[in-house]
Amino acid sequence: MKKILLATAVALACLCGTLYAAEDVTQLSLEGRKIVKSFFEELKGELSKAMKAGGPVNAVEVCQMRAPAISITLGEKTGWRVARTSLKLRNPANTPDFWERQVLKSFEARKAGGEDVKKMEQAEILSVDGQRTFRYMKAIPTAELCLNCHGGNVEPEVDAKLKELYPYDKARGFKVGDIRGAFTLSKPM
Ligand code: HEC
Repeated sequence: MKKILLATAVALACLCGTLYAAEDVTQLSLEGRKIVKSFFEELKGELSKAMKAGGPVNAVEVCQMRAPAISITLGEKTGWRVARTSLKLRNPANTPDFWERQVLKSFEARKAGGEDVKKMEQAEILSVDGQRTFRYMKAIPTAELCLNCHGGNVEPEVDAKLKELYPYDKARGFKVGDIRGAFTLSKPM
């Protein structure tokens, strides 16, 4: 009898563990989605403003300066690590780690399977260096605007600027609807 009780207690503890984890993942994903939204809106706003003011050449530097600055500010405000990554990188500072690379690859497979890139996300609780960590990624679709700097046919002036700033640039040749990369967020729990 004792054994059965113990087994039940263990089973319940395990079950509750998973239930709590599932709840955490849902709740934290909501938070993650909100952070991604502010990041995206702020960056896209500044990008469009800079494009209107001085064309894509001017906007290249805005992207270079503002993208990392916005992640830092958002990180400080929210306590999350906030960044962008891709399988085809412009800035090597955005190189994916092992988990991020696997997720990016799975996003490509999901897209090939017909899933909508706009809604694609992945959330998990992982142990990172012994610390339980919530990790969240959201795919970034390529829009028309992005082709100015990530398309296959970039204006010569923009091309020259990009080559000067990013000699190892691989983030070219994208088409509308392609997965340009992903937002990647994490939070220790
Ligand atoms: C005016 C040029 C320009 C436009 C337009 C532009 N980008 Fe970029 N993009 C850049 C630059 C410059 C970087 C490198 C930023 C850095 O140094 O962190 C970059 C980096 C990125 C990265 C980070 C990964 C990497 O390759 O280093 C992603 C993701 C990205 N862009 C997505 C987009 C999307 C999506 C759009 C359209 C909504 C877009 N970009 C439009 C210039 C541009």
